[in-house]
Amino acid sequence: MADKFDVVIIGAGAAGLMCAAEAGKRGRSVLVVDHGKKPGRKILISGGGRCNFTNYDVDANNYVCRNPHFVKSALSQYTQWDFIAMIAKHDIAYEEREHGQLFCEDSAKDIVNMLLAECDSPTVEQRYRCDVHDIRKTDSGFSLTLNTDTVECESLVVATGGLSMPKLGATPFGYQIAEQFGLKMVSTTAGLVPFTLHKEEKEAFAELSGIAFPAVVEAEDGTTFKENLLFTHRGLSGPVILQISSYWTPGQKVTIDLLPDLELAETLTTMREKHPNQSLKNSLSRLLPKRLIEVLIARGDIHDKPLKQFNPKEITAMATYFHQWQIAPNGTEGYRTAEVTLGGVDTDELSSKTMEAKKVPGLFFAGEVMDVSGWLGGYNFQWAWSSGYVAGQNA
Ligand code: FDA
Repeated sequence: MADKFDVVIIGAGAAGLMCAAEAGKRGRSVLVVDHGKKPGRKILISGGGRCNFTNYDVDANNYVCRNPHFVKSALSQYTQWDFIAMIAKHDIAYEEREHGQLFCEDSAKDIVNMLLAECDSPTVEQRYRCDVHDIRKTDSGFSLTLNTDTVECESLVVATGGLSMPKLGATPFGYQIAEQFGLKMVSTTAGLVPFTLHKEEKEAFAELSGIAFPAVVEAEDGTTFKENLLFTHRGLSGPVILQISSYWTPGQKVTIDLLPDLELAETLTTMREKHPNQSLKNSLSRLLPKRLIEVLIARGDIHDKPLKQFNPKEITAMATYFHQWQIAPNGTEGYRTAEVTLGGVDTDELSSKTMEAKKVPGLFFAGEVMDVSGWLGGYNFQWAWSSGYVAGQNA
């Protein structure tokens, strides 16, 4: 005889644990299975080990999804304030960093322990190192063949996450389940990920590795972010690049304002009046890292000479160059380093109010497995909490 549960959840990550806790509180018998050896592995490594668990300012605009309205219901059913209240209930110390980002003061372990405590109920069972070999629809729900036995359930919740960081257990299993039940997919690609550069630029800029400064980056669709830009030995990274990568497609350029906090034409004109014999290199090195200016001169992108030799037209051209520095990335570092996966189960297939598949009663999805990706800044975990909560109320 197969073990029977009201709810089986595949994936003991952020969304799966939240869903298990909520379904358990409703008195549902719940089994959570995960092929990994422990729960919440991405939570543990997130935010440099301190987990940026949500943000004070959460809105549908902070998400990339083919249907921009889809996230609204879940985000309002379980808000950032609900999660902050849970954190407070468990006496977890947290701090606000820039842009309203909330991090644990001590360790991301606090979040995993909190979720496990919320799941601590006689009706919630967890199994690790547990593979799901087969899923079949039955008259009353679903039958799952596990590596240990066969279990049956009324509701099945798929919370297997995205493809980023395969070494932490990411698999395409959730997408395969969606396809098995005839649900459409939005094609997947790495998001919140560093850019790699073409050979010539990569070689030229490699020596700048480690240099960071604030910049505004604009994608071809007009989306802009202002945060730190970081040169790496492979290309470009830093929060501003991770953010814009979710709005970039191969072949496109990004436009970078290297000096977003000043009007370079005005600044250079003033410098020329005060220090006419000062070189362009020395003038710009007061505004940006000197090594960057040296590399741009060495590449022949800008020409060094005393400021007095620049006419107004040349100053305008120089300002345009630094305020609209264009670069065409070669690609991204891919799922190996990406924080999220763009695309996934098409949200048109799901009820935004319950997370249930419209054409497969009893089949639910939660978290990153669906076509919802948040900005950097705690938005992805907030989606996991909100969608996990909603699935947990309805599964
Ligand atoms: P998640 O990936 O958490 O969980 C999926 C679970 O399913 C895993 O436990 C996995 O083992 C399991 N699974 C997969 N395939 C399976 C199979 N075939 N059988 C059984 N189990 C299976 N976000 C944020 O808001 N703030 C932050 O600070 C960070 N930081 C961060 C750092 C890094 C390095 C990464 C890679 C990602 C982040 N993120 C983040 C993103 C965030 O971690 C991510 O969006 C959520 O963990 C998604 O939660 P899910 O529960 O959907 O998937």
